[in-house]
Amino acid sequence: MRLYNKLKKYSEKNILAMHMPGHKRKQILKNNLPYKIDITEIDGFDNLYHPTGILKECQEKLSKVYNSYKSYYLVNGGTSGILVSIRSLCDIGDKIIIAKNCHKAVFNSIELLNLKHEYIKTSFDENGICLDIKSDDLKKCLESNKDAKCVLITSPTYEGVISDIHSLASICHEYNIPLIVDEAHGAHLFLENKSSLQKGADIVLNSLHKTLPSLTQTAVIHISSKAINRELLDKKMQRNISIFCSSSPSYILMASIDECVEFIKKSGNRYYKRLKENLEVFKNKCKHLEHIKVINFNYVGKYFDFDNTKIVIILKNANITGHQLMQRLKRQNIQCEMAYLNYVICMTTICDSKKDILRLANVLCNIDKGLKFSNKKLEFEDVNQINTSTIYEAVNGKQTLINIDKSINFVSAEFVYAYPPGIPILIPGQVITSDIINHIKELIKVGLNLNSSSGEISKGLLYVLDNIQN
Ligand SMILES: Cc1ncc(COP(=O)(O)O)c(C=O)c1O
Repeated sequence: MRLYNKLKKYSEKNILAMHMPGHKRKQILKNNLPYKIDITEIDGFDNLYHPTGILKECQEKLSKVYNSYKSYYLVNGGTSGILVSIRSLCDIGDKIIIAKNCHKAVFNSIELLNLKHEYIKTSFDENGICLDIKSDDLKKCLESNKDAKCVLITSPTYEGVISDIHSLASICHEYNIPLIVDEAHGAHLFLENKSSLQKGADIVLNSLHKTLPSLTQTAVIHISSKAINRELLDKKMQRNISIFCSSSPSYILMASIDECVEFIKKSGNRYYKRLKENLEVFKNKCKHLEHIKVINFNYVGKYFDFDNTKIVIILKNANITGHQLMQRLKRQNIQCEMAYLNYVICMTTICDSKKDILRLANVLCNIDKGLKFSNKKLEFEDVNQINTSTIYEAVNGKQTLINIDKSINFVSAEFVYAYPPGIPILIPGQVITSDIINHIKELIKVGLNLNSSSGEISKGLLYVLDNIQN
């Protein structure tokens, strides 16, 4: 039985609720929120962390659809999946290998477990978009860090860049080190046989809510059938999920996952085919734009692979910044996913109609006509990051708040990141260089939403370690 149907049936019975939640399934607040089906683990509704009934069936269905060894529901987003996967493979003080463009949750996990981290070399293109992770770079990193407990990379990235997971997983396995893929943006990729799970990663997490029809905060995590030590991993993951997700998992969120899985099982291929056809129409409309360039059909061959559902609009040759384009689109009632210095990301999913995608194409065509040529020279290099301590040690060291202009050569005690995408620009323990300060100032200048752990960065202030000055 579908979880939603079971909840609905239950809500129609005249049962006196002498249990949580406090709203007692009544619409006392006179709104349309779904109180009627919002329950906790009452009789017959199973327990997410020790599933034996309907939630076990739901997760088995998920596992079948994604073709995994084991799959689990997450009600605290892909964020919890990252915490779960890292803690399932690393103990306090261990070493982890990561790509530089990892989500902040990866760095938070590193802080929580006082891990040492090593970066795989990461390259950027002229627009500041992180390229795919190269097998040789991973091999080099593994060769000098054979004691690492796992490797974690993001694929697809926020911008849609897909790495060669098949090769990367094979290399990791040569060293008997498991590969975690943060595939938060790729829950739909199995519909075109491009999921990291199919390519051999050991653990893969997907934020369902990002690219499939599921409620915000819903995510899933899978163990591959070929994962190293998969039985032990299963036990550890189950326990860590119960640590990092709420002890009162929302049945509305879980029903949303079940509905989404059921839908993609039955109709996913058909809807995905329709989306791809509509994206072809978009491509035909936009491929001859003069100033605006869209990644999927202008930069073929630059990345190992690309998720074409992401419409990444490059403005390198246009006299407008990402932020300005986002504002113009907003004035036409189009809200983008995010804007960076030189590009804007629009996300499409199986829920977009041909009309929606054509509307975006038409607005872009009109905007393009009013733009002028510009050759913005931006340089993005793989800055050599010097870390003087673990993140944990820096966060817990003695600190002073100073102006960022005076922070060069100090050691940061904070994370700094633009949100979205939530990828750190500066991490605790890292030596602050003039390049980093210039980059931060540039981001502030173009109007990006910059955050830091303390929140003081918006005033140009940053916590640094007291005593250490390189
Ligand atoms: C690459 C990546 N990983 C993980 C996450 C966290 O996922 P969630 O928002 O589902 O917690 C995000 C969120 O933006 C992300 O971009």
